[in-house]
Amino acid sequence: MEFVVTTVQHPSPAVTDLARKIAVKLSAPFVARSRYSLAAIRKQYNVSGLIVAATDGPVVHTDDGEYFFHLSMAELRIKNLINGKHDHMITAMGLAAGMSVLDCTLGLATDAIVASFVAGEAGKITGLESSPVIALVAELGLQHFVGEANQKYDITSALRRIKVENADFNHYLEALPDNSFDIVYFDPMFRNPIYKSSNLNPIRSLADKRPLGIAAVKQACRVAKRKVVVKEAAGSREFERLGITTTTGGKYSSVQYGIIDCFSKINGGGQIWND
Ligand SMILES: C[S@@+](CC[C@H](N)C(=O)[O-])C[C@H]1O[C@@H](n2cnc3c(N)ncnc32)[C@H](O)[C@@H]1O
Repeated sequence: MEFVVTTVQHPSPAVTDLARKIAVKLSAPFVARSRYSLAAIRKQYNVSGLIVAATDGPVVHTDDGEYFFHLSMAELRIKNLINGKHDHMITAMGLAAGMSVLDCTLGLATDAIVASFVAGEAGKITGLESSPVIALVAELGLQHFVGEANQKYDITSALRRIKVENADFNHYLEALPDNSFDIVYFDPMFRNPIYKSSNLNPIRSLADKRPLGIAAVKQACRVAKRKVVVKEAAGSREFERLGITTTTGGKYSSVQYGIIDCFSKINGGGQIWND
C-alpha cells in the first residue's frame, strides 16, 4: 500500500519533525498539511494510505479504518495477572521473570507487552514485524507511550524494554545462533480471520498474511531453549499441518496455543522438530 505522511492541522515543530522522520524512514512523501483535508491529500496523491503525525504519535489511515498505538488488552491482562488470574499465553510459554522471548509476529505488540511485564527487568523481549508501517507504529508507541502510573505495576517500563526489528522472521531466525531465546512465539494472521471483535481489523490490509511455514518452525526450535508457542484460531487445522500435537487455551476461547517443548534437546532428549 502506498502512503503519504502528513501532520494534524496546526502542528507543533515537534510534530512536523516526527512526520518528516517517518517519511524518511518509510521512503514516503511528506506533505505539509496546510488547510488541506485528509481526503483532499489522498485524492491529490492518489493513495489509500495516510500517516498523520500528532502529538501522541502517528495515526495510520487505511481503507480498513485508522489505528494508532494503544495498550489494547495488554493492560487488562496485566491487571488480571497481578490479581492472580492466569493468562493462557503466559501459561503456554511457561514464562517467568528473567526469561527471553522472541515474538516473531509483533503486530500491535499486545502480547509482547504482557510478556515483557512478566519477564521483568532481567528478561529480554524482541519483537519482529515484517510490515514497515506496523513495525514503525509499534516501535514509536513502545518508546514513547506513557501508561497509567500505578504503585502495583509499571507498564511503561515494560513497553520500553521491548526491542523492535522490522524484519521477516523467516530470515531473522535463520541468522540466530542455537538456543538464543528461551521462548520463540508466533501469532500469524489466522487462516480464517475472526473479524468480529478483532482489534486487528485496522491493520489487516497492512499485515503480512503468509502462513507460518514448517521451515520457520524448525528454525524456531533450534533457536528456542525452552518452547516454541504458536497461537491459532480454535479448531484450525494449522496445528495439524505444522505437526503440533500439544495445545492449550480456554475451554470456550476462540484461540488456542500450540506448544512445542524444546527443553528436551538441551537435556539430551529428542522431539519431533529437532532433526
Ligand atoms: C496476528 S498479528 C500479531 C498480533 C500480536 N501478537 C499482538 O499481540 O498484537 C500478526 C502480525 O505478524 C506479522 N507477520 C506476519 N508474518 C510475518 C513474518 N514472516 N515476519 C514478521 N512479521 C510477520 C503481520 O504483519 C502482523 O502484524
